[in-house]
Amino acid sequence: MRPAPDLSLFSLEGTVALVTGSGRGLGLEIARAMNRAGAHVLLNGRDGDRLRAVAAELDGGPAPVTALPFDVADRAAVRDAFARIGREFGGLDVLVQNVGQRNRKPLLEFADDEILTLLDVDLASSLVLAREAARLMLPRGRGRLIAVTSVAGQIAKAGDCVYTAAKAGLSGMVRALAAEYGPHGLTSNAVAPGFFATETNAAIAADPVAGAYFSGRTPMGRWGRPEEIAGAAVFLASSAASYVNGHVLVVDGGATILM
Ligand SMILES: NC(=O)c1ccc[n+]([C@@H]2O[C@H](COP(=O)([O-])OP(=O)(O)OC[C@H]3O[C@@H](n4cnc5c(N)ncnc54)[C@H](OP(=O)(O)O)[C@@H]3O)[C@@H](O)[C@H]2O)c1
Repeated sequence: MRPAPDLSLFSLEGTVALVTGSGRGLGLEIARAMNRAGAHVLLNGRDGDRLRAVAAELDGGPAPVTALPFDVADRAAVRDAFARIGREFGGLDVLVQNVGQRNRKPLLEFADDEILTLLDVDLASSLVLAREAARLMLPRGRGRLIAVTSVAGQIAKAGDCVYTAAKAGLSGMVRALAAEYGPHGLTSNAVAPGFFATETNAAIAADPVAGAYFSGRTPMGRWGRPEEIAGAAVFLASSAASYVNGHVLVVDGGATILM
């Protein structure tokens, strides 16, 4: 009889993983998959009731799931949350920075404070969270920083420039932190989703013109299913990616390789 397959290379058993923006959408799928791989997942978002409902739904998996509601752009709340992670969960092994808001409109229609708010939520808060995570990870000499960027970090579309600038900045952050923390045992990588039919994108995906435009410019001829993002994030958090550092892993059905 053959031995059972050994999947330990992809196991997250014994780790603690914070996934921001994991009450729905891609973050929820990443949290679900990481928990199935054995991570104690800390769910995040601003709506605590929603997180507690998701935690109850995921209860019974191979590791605990805990709701940790806070706004990633609220500096005091971030400090409190990381203090709690250090105190109650003994540290942090994986940080997935998945929160990303979007405001599709031409630059001329943006007020100053709208630009600053979007950059704060999508980019500046990621630097703050990465710093707080690093404070917990550096003394242990290990940790995985994973950002969820976008194909919009590499290619552009009119009427979406603040989000595009933030995502391109996030890709730069990922590389810079890979250089800064690589010598200390941490890795910093990103997942860059293409077009995923999440709740937030449901109307566009279902639209016969816009939905077909995006699936038509993807070699696989369809939108991504939300759960199809999760494998890349689990890989980057696992031992299988122990020497992967500063990489942006595009998950887009091939959309960005087309001329
Ligand atoms: N969907 C796609 O096709 C696609 C493509 C490329 C890149 N991405 C990126 O992938 C990530 C996830 O996208 P998604 O479509 O799954 O997003 P989503 O459905 O809009 O979900 C966003 C999650 O983030 C939470 N959130 C929003 N602002 C927050 C804040 N300030 N603090 C804490 N939590 C916050 C929301 O919960 P609350 O409202 O309860 O806070 C929600 O759970 C984003 O970074 C997005 O830019 C998505």
